[in-house]
Amino acid sequence: MPETVLQLENVSKKIGKKEIIHNISFEIQKGEIFGLLGPNGAGKTTIIRSIVGLISKTNGKVSICGVNLDDDFKDAIQNVGAIIENPEFYMYMSGWKNLKQFAKMNRKNISDEQIKQIVEKVKMTHAIHNKVKTYSLGMRQRLGVAQALIHQPALLILDEPTNGLDPQGMAEFRMLIKELATNGTSVLISSHLLSEIQQITDRFAIIDKGHLTHIEKMSDLTEEKILKVTLEVSDGESARLILDTLDLEIVEQNGNLFVLNVTREVLPEISRALVRANVDIFELSKIHFSLEDRFLALTNGGEL
Ligand SMILES: Nc1ncnc2c1ncn2[C@@H]1O[C@H](COP(=O)(O)OP(=O)(O)OP(=O)(O)O)[C@@H](O)[C@H]1O
Ligand SMILES: [Mg+2]
Repeated sequence: MPETVLQLENVSKKIGKKEIIHNISFEIQKGEIFGLLGPNGAGKTTIIRSIVGLISKTNGKVSICGVNLDDDFKDAIQNVGAIIENPEFYMYMSGWKNLKQFAKMNRKNISDEQIKQIVEKVKMTHAIHNKVKTYSLGMRQRLGVAQALIHQPALLILDEPTNGLDPQGMAEFRMLIKELATNGTSVLISSHLLSEIQQITDRFAIIDKGHLTHIEKMSDLTEEKILKVTLEVSDGESARLILDTLDLEIVEQNGNLFVLNVTREVLPEISRALVRANVDIFELSKIHFSLEDRFLALTNGGEL
């Protein structure tokens, strides 16, 4: 049985006459990494703020680990660790002292040993006794995650966590998040970076002007049934005659260069038929289908 850690049902927020988010519903299961993907101003932060009670909802219901946020806020929110926008630290204190301070404010009794384990998990052991002002951005992000994890929440919420990180920092951050999820933590992550969402989430929702337009499973996207390939040959005209007899779609032809939509099974047939007809193949390669294509298609209202 999947265990639902977060459930949103028809959550809406109006400010004045403006509806900023409209009837947002989705669920996150235990150990799942779920993404909110949308352009600037789409409503991602507003959705997150409504989950952690930083703003009041106009309508709808949020349940965390089965507890309705409106019924028992404290009980529900104790299951959540969050980084919303930039985490704030005492710059002149060490990372360790910041975490101790944060732990002290928590309802649960958190031991030094537990803090140590979390610091290890986020790979900050080497620098944890240095002052935060000496930390790089990536180190601060890690300390932020440590802070969010300090009470061992079932759900970790990260609003644009890789903002400002370099590619190496992003890759390390992704590994950390995946490790946490493997160990059972559920993660809600927002981003306007398609590639980021693509590389990290199991499922993601597309948020467009306050509406949730689609929920996609990453495995459905990556399991391509139709491949888009480029084909370059020595003789485009002869190749065309052959390709027309095969079960494939010619998307484009430019002289000796083709773009084709084919199933994987047809690929060897293409090369066999061309070679048989003495047409040389210079290139036959797959064009990577990216989430970006899908995202653009979805937000334009089209279907792939
Ligand atoms: N307090 C507020 N008063 C009025 N409008 C607001 C308020 N908070 C947010 N908005 C508007 O709601 C919309 C959604 O904002 P939100 O911050 O949720 O977007 P976002 O998807 O997080 O964007 P970004 O990628 O830039 O962080 C924006 O148009 C924003 O201007
Ligand atoms: Mg935002």
